[in-house]
Amino acid sequence: MALLETRTFGRSIHYYDEVSSTNTIAHDKVAQGAEEGTLIIAECQTSGRGRLGRSWFSPKGKGIWMSLVLKPKIPLFFTPQLTLLTAVAACRSIRRVCAVDVKIKWPNDLLISGKKVTGILLETSAEDERMKYTVCGIGISVNLKPDDYPKELKQIATSLGIEAGHEIERETIIAAFLKEFEDLCELYYSQGFGPIRILWEALAVSIGQVVRAHTSQGIIEGKAIALDDSGALVILQNNGEETKVYSGEIKLN
Ligand code: BTN
Repeated sequence: MALLETRTFGRSIHYYDEVSSTNTIAHDKVAQGAEEGTLIIAECQTSGRGRLGRSWFSPKGKGIWMSLVLKPKIPLFFTPQLTLLTAVAACRSIRRVCAVDVKIKWPNDLLISGKKVTGILLETSAEDERMKYTVCGIGISVNLKPDDYPKELKQIATSLGIEAGHEIERETIIAAFLKEFEDLCELYYSQGFGPIRILWEALAVSIGQVVRAHTSQGIIEGKAIALDDSGALVILQNNGEETKVYSGEIKLN
C-alpha cells in the first residue's frame, strides 16, 4: 500500500475479493504462522460477524472489511482496554481523513448523528490467562448509499460517504487507521491505559448520558459517569449506587 507509514501494522497484507469473514481468515493465518501486524482485507464478506452473535452487512466494494493480527504481551483481562483503544484509533483516523463528527458509543461502536458507521470485533485466543493473540476485526461503512442498506439497517446505519457528502477513498482511511493504531498501541504498551482512557472519554458520546445497559446480569439504567481502569463503564443508578458494566451493549436515552 503506497501510503503506509507504519513499522509493522499492515506490512504483510492478504487481500481477497470475497471471504466468509476476514476474522476467520486471520485466525487461519495465525495458525499458519502469521506475525503481529498481518492484515486481512476483503472486498466483501458472505458471513461477516458482529458483536453479540449478530451478522455484519459487508457488501462488495463499499466498505473496509478487515482484520489485523496482534500479539500483545498482556493479561487476558486487559482485552477490554484493547477494544477501547481500537475504537479510539478508528475514530481519530476517520475524523482526520473525512472531517466528520464521529463519536464512540461504549464500548466500541462509532456513530455519526446517532447512526452506526463502524463496528469492531476482537476475537482473542489465550493461554494461562495471558493473551496469545487477538484478531481485531473492523468494519467501516465507507461508500454505501442509503439504498444499499437492507430495511432493518436503514434507520440505524450510515456511511462516511453519506455523511461527508462525497465518495471517500478507502486506502487513505486504511493507511491512517493503521498508523494511528500502531502509535496508540505503542503508547499503551509503554504508558498503560491512562492516556488511552483520556482519549476515549474525549471522543465518547456515552459519558454524561443516561443509558440503559443490557448485560448478562440484566438491565442497568442510570447516568454513565466514567470509564474505570479496566475499561468498564461506571453507571450511577437512580438509587445512588455505582455499577460497573464490563461487557454488553448500551442504549442512549
Ligand atoms: C459490531 O457488531 O459492531 C462488530 C462488527 C465487526 C465487523 C468486522 S468487518 C471485518 C471483521 N470480520 C468480521 O467478520 N467482522 C469484523
